[in-house]
Amino acid sequence: MPSRNAAQWNTPPNSLRIDEFVDSRIYSDPAIFEEELEKIWKKSWLPVCHESELPEPYDFRTLTIAREPILVVRGPDNKIRAFLNVCPHRGMLIERRPSGSFLENQASGNPKHMTCMFHGWQFDMKGNCAMITREKEGYQDRLSRKDLGLRELRCETTFGNFVWVTLDDNNTQSVNDWAGDALACIQKNLDAEPLEVFHYHKAIIGTNYKLWHDTNSEFYHDYMHYFNRITGFTPEYFARKNVAHKNGHVVVGTFEVQYEKYQLGKSRAELSFPGLPPNQWFMVDLFPGANFNLRGSALRVDVMTPLSADTVMIEFRGLGLKRDTAEERMRRIEHHNSIWGPFGRNLHEDLLGVAGQGSAMLPGSEPRRIIQARHENETIHDEVGMRHFYQEWGRRMNRLPSDPTRKYMEAAE
Ligand code: FES
Ligand SMILES: [Fe+2]
Repeated sequence: MPSRNAAQWNTPPNSLRIDEFVDSRIYSDPAIFEEELEKIWKKSWLPVCHESELPEPYDFRTLTIAREPILVVRGPDNKIRAFLNVCPHRGMLIERRPSGSFLENQASGNPKHMTCMFHGWQFDMKGNCAMITREKEGYQDRLSRKDLGLRELRCETTFGNFVWVTLDDNNTQSVNDWAGDALACIQKNLDAEPLEVFHYHKAIIGTNYKLWHDTNSEFYHDYMHYFNRITGFTPEYFARKNVAHKNGHVVVGTFEVQYEKYQLGKSRAELSFPGLPPNQWFMVDLFPGANFNLRGSALRVDVMTPLSADTVMIEFRGLGLKRDTAEERMRRIEHHNSIWGPFGRNLHEDLLGVAGQGSAMLPGSEPRRIIQARHENETIHDEVGMRHFYQEWGRRMNRLPSDPTRKYMEAAE
C-alpha cells in the first residue's frame, strides 16, 4: 500500500480551513512574483539602511526596490533624501558604487555633485539639475534645468533612525501609520539613544522571499535550533505572545532568555538596550519583508530584496549603541555573532531550512500545500503570524493564498 497516491497528496484534508494552508505556487510562479513587485513591493515602506551608514554629509548608498535603482544620500543640511538613481537625460544609472561619498572627486565630475558619466550632467544633493554640458548650444532656450531634476522618493528617518523609502508617491501613510502599531513595543528602546551598525552582510539565497519571512515569523521551528531549545523552552517561552498587527505585521512578544544554560553562556543583562528588562527578546516582522529582532544586547535587522520567484537577497545588519566603549562593542558583537554570525548557532540553520524549501519549490514544480494550521492561543508556536501575513498578501494581490487562481475578494464574500 502506498502512503498516499498523487490524487490523495493533492487533496487538502477536509478539516483544514482555507486560511490554514497556502498553495506553493505563491512561492514558485514567476508571474505571481512579477505581480507582487507591482502590487506589494512598489507600494510599501521599506527600511533600506541605517543613518549611521551615512554618517557624513555627501555620504551615499545605492540599492534597488522592485528592480528600480535607488540612491540614498545625506545632504550638506544633514537631511537624508532618496532619489531614483536614474539620469533624466537618457536613463543612465547615475551612481554605480554601492556606497561612498560625493565629496570625492571623480574622473567624470565635480565633488559635491552627483554626476552622470554618460554626458556629464550634474545634480546637487537635493536632486536639482545643476549643470548641463553645452546646454545653450544644444537646447537653446527650449529646456530648463528646473524641469530636469532627479525623481525624489518619499523618505523618512525614524524608528531608531532607520532610513525608510517608498516608491509610492500616492501612499498617504507615514512610516508611523504603516509600522508604528507593530514597532511600538520596542520604539522606546530604539529611540532612547543613537544606534550604530556594527555588522553588515548580505546573502543571495535560492528561495522565495516569503519563505524567509515565514521562518522569521514562526517559532515552531525552534526544534531545529539547539541554542533556542536550550536557552528557551521554559513555561514562559511557551506563553510568549505572538500577535497580529495592522498592515500584515506581527509581533512576537518577549520573555527572559536563559543564556547561562548554553555551554559557557552568560547573562547579557548589563548590555541590555536602554529601557529593556534583562535578557528580553522582541521580534517584529514587518510586511512584506523586514524584521527587527531585538535580543537584549544586540539588534538584528533583516531587509529583503526579492530578485526572482526563487531568489532573494537578504541584508543583515547588527546594531549596538553609538556610545559603546570598545570593550562593550566587542561583547555586543560576540553576543550577535554567537547566534547570527557565520559561526553562530541560528542563522545558518534558518538558511538551511528555507534553502531546502526553495529547492523543493522551484518555478514549474507541481503545486504543494504548505500548512500553517497551528492554533495555540496566540502564543509562540501558534502560526497566527503566517496566517495574518497571507491575509494581507491575499488582499493586496486579490488572490487566494490557498488557491492563487481564485480571487481573494470573491472567496472572502
Ligand atoms: S544619460 Fe546622463 S547625462 Fe546623458
Ligand atoms: Fe529560526
